[in-house]
Amino acid sequence: EPYRVVALPGEGIGPEVVEASLKVLQHLAQIEGFSLVINYGLIGQPAFEKFGNFFPPQTAQICEGSDGILFGAVTKGGILELRQHFDFFINLRPVRPFETLLNKSSLQPQKIQGLDILFVRELVSGIYFGPSGRERDENGSYGYHTMKYYDWQISRIARVALQKAKERRGLLTLAHKENALPQIPWSRLVQEEAKHFPDIVVEPMLVDNLAMQLVREPKRFDVILAGNLFGDILSDIGGALVGSIGLLPSASINERGFGLYEAIHGTAPDIAGKGIANPLGTMGAVVLMLQQWGETNAATRLIQAIERVLALGYRTADLTPQGEEILVNTATLTELIIQQLSEL
Ligand code: NAI
Ligand code: MG
Repeated sequence: EPYRVVALPGEGIGPEVVEASLKVLQHLAQIEGFSLVINYGLIGQPAFEKFGNFFPPQTAQICEGSDGILFGAVTKGGILELRQHFDFFINLRPVRPFETLLNKSSLQPQKIQGLDILFVRELVSGIYFGPSGRERDENGSYGYHTMKYYDWQISRIARVALQKAKERRGLLTLAHKENALPQIPWSRLVQEEAKHFPDIVVEPMLVDNLAMQLVREPKRFDVILAGNLFGDILSDIGGALVGSIGLLPSASINERGFGLYEAIHGTAPDIAGKGIANPLGTMGAVVLMLQQWGETNAATRLIQAIERVLALGYRTADLTPQGEEILVNTATLTELIIQQLSEL
């Protein structure tokens, strides 16, 4: 049985990084001896132009029954609908620096050497999905977005984060803002689930303080659980920690283990079309997809190939190559990784 992958390239650098990652995935499949079927779907602006809908039913149907979605990026429409359609409520964002890129971090190398954080972000609820609108009253025109969480939505993501903490170092930090938003009792609900995980230390932390601690002493963290909004913002700090936002992958999973895989960056309109985007975030997402499939050899091989190419000094422009390092574009970096795949 081949793995069925759906590619949703989207807009901006999305198509560039997805194409590069699919090439690598196809080579891996040959080497590791599994077969792949790749289908393409439209999302975002291209979907709107063809179907008048940012996430058309045609695209939903292509994704249905597949083994994973590899997503690029979109400017605004489509991604929230896609996440909600398949109930991808678990968003996993591992933040781990490459040993050879420690000098690219915004922090001193020793502050991030050995860093290993897993963000667990709730992805289908909260302020991005609550009631919203524009109205007018006697004080003028106004807009509103509402942060709304069902208790069960918090409990189910809490169970995932606790399980991850159990498989890791046993510390779960919860990002919250209950001094200002007391009606959504994240801390209480997470503590209740934690009764079933007696070995896990649960540490609720106000999100503003957490943002500061992430920059001050990132290595103190293990798993960080956050709602949709806070998780979105906090995880971009990870980009500065590891050297570029172009390096970070994410997996969005639903209850039955079906997943959407993408880099955490957006369409990068400032560099789109130039062929210079860093594809490693999306290739990292491919690693997460392979791990989810249980193809651990393939996943390890890809990580090692990437590490070797970086160790040889090759860098895309976002990593501002200096000295001995060699500036390469997306296509060249991809070719180098493919070469390493077969040599490993
Ligand atoms: P962005 O992540 O697209 O770009 C931020 C900065 O990082 C830019 O300077 C960009 O050139 C650089 N960058 C990002 N990815 C890179 C890569 N792979 N290689 C090299 N450099 C890279 O965030 P921004 O500029 O805030 O948003 C641009 C658009 O993307 C917006 O329309 C936003 O809505 C959308 N967006 C979409 C996301 C998605 O589809 N999941 C996620 C985040 C933003
Ligand atoms: Mg974001």
